Amino acid sequence: MSRVFNFSPGPSMLPEPVLRKAQQEMLEYGTCGMSVMEMSHRGKDFMAIATKTEADLRALMGVPENYKVLFLQGGATSQFAMVPINLLRGKTKACYVQTGLWSEKAVAEAKRFAEVGIAASSKEGNYMSIPRRTDWVVDPDAAYLHYTSNETIGGVEFQEIPDAAGLPLVCDMSSNILSRAIDVSRFAVIYAGAQKNLGPAGITVVIVREDLLGQALAHTPSLFDYRVQADQGSMLNTPPTYNWYLLGLVLEWIKEQGGVASIEQRNIRKASRLYDAIDASDFYSNPVAPEARSRMNVPFRLREASLEKPFAQEAREAGLVTLEGHRSVGGLRASIYNAMPEAGVDALIAFMADFERRHG
Ligand SMILES: Cc1ncc(COP(=O)(O)O)c(C=O)c1O
Repeated sequence: MSRVFNFSPGPSMLPEPVLRKAQQEMLEYGTCGMSVMEMSHRGKDFMAIATKTEADLRALMGVPENYKVLFLQGGATSQFAMVPINLLRGKTKACYVQTGLWSEKAVAEAKRFAEVGIAASSKEGNYMSIPRRTDWVVDPDAAYLHYTSNETIGGVEFQEIPDAAGLPLVCDMSSNILSRAIDVSRFAVIYAGAQKNLGPAGITVVIVREDLLGQALAHTPSLFDYRVQADQGSMLNTPPTYNWYLLGLVLEWIKEQGGVASIEQRNIRKASRLYDAIDASDFYSNPVAPEARSRMNVPFRLREASLEKPFAQEAREAGLVTLEGHRSVGGLRASIYNAMPEAGVDALIAFMADFERRHG
């Protein structure tokens, strides 16, 4: 077996110990004589997995008591709609910060339900920075303020939680959840698709403050109502049980690594090493304003764009895969989520130096 270093933006690498544990427990979980995939979601074995997973997530993120944690389907994209559906609460307006293609998508979906105001946008500068907080115009009549803490495509990340000017703060944390310590109590809603830092695709975590529940738009299908999902323990219908279990294994792995604080230190080391290598060369470049650079997704260009395809090809042959940039922006991108080992980043840096020697 020769596992590669996979720099995919998502679905992305899972920690190898998680895959091994899943492999070991595949045919028979504990002594129950069946795989987790085959269990009733209401049986005691799965309920124990579900309960422990929620408790571990709460402990790792420091989720306060007055928040519900939901494990849903539909990906982060479903939350682009569920957020306005659940949070408008009699209001008609919602406020969004636009920092890249994912926040654009969130805006487009919210427009189906609300009058959307853009508090700030970095679109004119091609989404290479985060608009200065002092320049934001936050509508006090909006039901909430939404932002995307890490733009997976552009490689732009908020380094701090922005001041929400008294509005409920909503965050799409899909591509940096659990990569750094955050104060959950600053948020009304946090949501994240799992397929980057949490587990495999197919399960979506939503953390929602309790006082916001129970006021979904009229005619909201039960599945899309946070209140109903919270009351039913995310089991209004059959949940994605195996993904829930794998998410639990990823959380156990994070605990074994020393928790979020130590994962964060490792992420800082990985990102700094890669950005330093890019900045030290005039063969590679990263266009993002240094203070807005993402620790998770590192886009880069080659001085000669015609070398980008050969770069990705040769890297693949060297066991460094999925380095192509998003189809909408081109170039190259290294996604270095929690599960990417430091050795993977070091191997990429060594490959980059070697490629530059041969082609620079
Ligand atoms: C920041 C961000 N938000 C939302 C999404 C959409 O997630 P999903 O495919 O789970 O709906 C992605 C997917 O890559 C993302 O990176």
